[in-house]
Amino acid sequence: MKPLTSHRAKKLSGEITVPGDKSISHRALLLASQAIGKSEIHGLLEGEDVINTAKALEKMGVLIKKKGRVWEVNGVGTGGLSEPEGILYMGNSGTGTRLMLGLCATHGFTSSFSGDASLNKRPMLRAITPLKKFGAEFITREGGLLPVTVIGTKNPMPISYELPVASAQVKSAVLLAGLNAPGKTTVIEKTPTRDHTELMMKYFGFDISSRGGKITITGQAEVSRKKITVPGDPSSAAFPIVAALIVPGSEIIVKNVCINPARTGLYTTLKEMGARLEFLNIRENAGEKIADIAVSYSQLSGVRVPAGRAASMIDEYPILAIAAACASGKTVMLGLEELRVKESDRLSAIAEGLKYCGVEVSKTENSLTVTGAKKIPGGQVKTHMDHRIAMAFAILGMVSEKPVTVDDGQMINTSFPGFVELMNGLGGRIES
Ligand code: S3P
Repeated sequence: MKPLTSHRAKKLSGEITVPGDKSISHRALLLASQAIGKSEIHGLLEGEDVINTAKALEKMGVLIKKKGRVWEVNGVGTGGLSEPEGILYMGNSGTGTRLMLGLCATHGFTSSFSGDASLNKRPMLRAITPLKKFGAEFITREGGLLPVTVIGTKNPMPISYELPVASAQVKSAVLLAGLNAPGKTTVIEKTPTRDHTELMMKYFGFDISSRGGKITITGQAEVSRKKITVPGDPSSAAFPIVAALIVPGSEIIVKNVCINPARTGLYTTLKEMGARLEFLNIRENAGEKIADIAVSYSQLSGVRVPAGRAASMIDEYPILAIAAACASGKTVMLGLEELRVKESDRLSAIAEGLKYCGVEVSKTENSLTVTGAKKIPGGQVKTHMDHRIAMAFAILGMVSEKPVTVDDGQMINTSFPGFVELMNGLGGRIES
């Protein structure tokens, strides 16, 4: 455990970029592995989660090299992975694991996956249930937990599947399995979730269509290598952005951030709270919308965040709760049941951390209400192996009366290497 202590900051200022988008980085590696030839990935997130996905692909015969800042992936073509020796260690990454389970389900070999203490508690049945329909078999611990062994099918059947939970990971697992099944695989989603898999499959030239929540991929196609540029992660940009909103006098710009509409619920919410926040220089690359985000210190007011917005900001509730603690009045966040199965039980971890820092907070099974205050005492927070809990509370320390100490800052490396240095470069005072 390596604690972090965050002290009250003066104003934050500067122009920064944040590391590459985590979701897009996983997909870039996985899809490049299924194309033929050497794809180049620029701006890949070099966080532990994504590196574990790269290592797993290497163990399945994909040659991956880093040249300077560019990652080269020698794709083996659709269905071209080979059986890995030993267990694939996925660290803290639910995304890497569930997406990889999808890819392996329709490869006719056996593979086994394991993770850290947090990942080994997270539900895998949500991905395994549809993947079995392709013909794959799975051996799991009680309750569908990791370690999981996948006996991939040699004769995959394409499937049609309606998602029972709003999950981009499950949707993507099915689409990735569909890549190596003959004919058309369809996923139906009632609530739109992030569509990076669909956009990148299209960019690679796979035959994929998406209309009214029905997504169909035609499998066993051959596509060629591509150059991919990964934009900055909006879920990482959220930390310096909320910091600038709550530390008086701040003004920052975060350049080159992905603003895919399925990811921008936090930004919509912050604007409703009164945030001075603007998307500048909006452009598009490989189907993904990108912008520079300018933000200045703002007087925030509490709002009601509807359940229908949860999918578009599912990773942002820890940092929204910090903004809410600094706003006037109450912020009510609804439809949070999925927060229970993230890197930690985030609903409880947020509520517990706020309480330890002297903020008024209440929770139900699937909602959170935070009452803002002018003065926040500060305190000691448990991160429960959750990178976003660690970063969110480090931001709270920038405005609290006494410092905020989080018990372990190490998990931050899973998604945001260089977080402390970047925040301190803006004017923060985080000590590790
Ligand atoms: C992700 C989807 C979301 C999100 C996770 C990344 C993805 O998870 O929380 O950080 O890349 O598809 P769910 O699919 O479980 O909602």
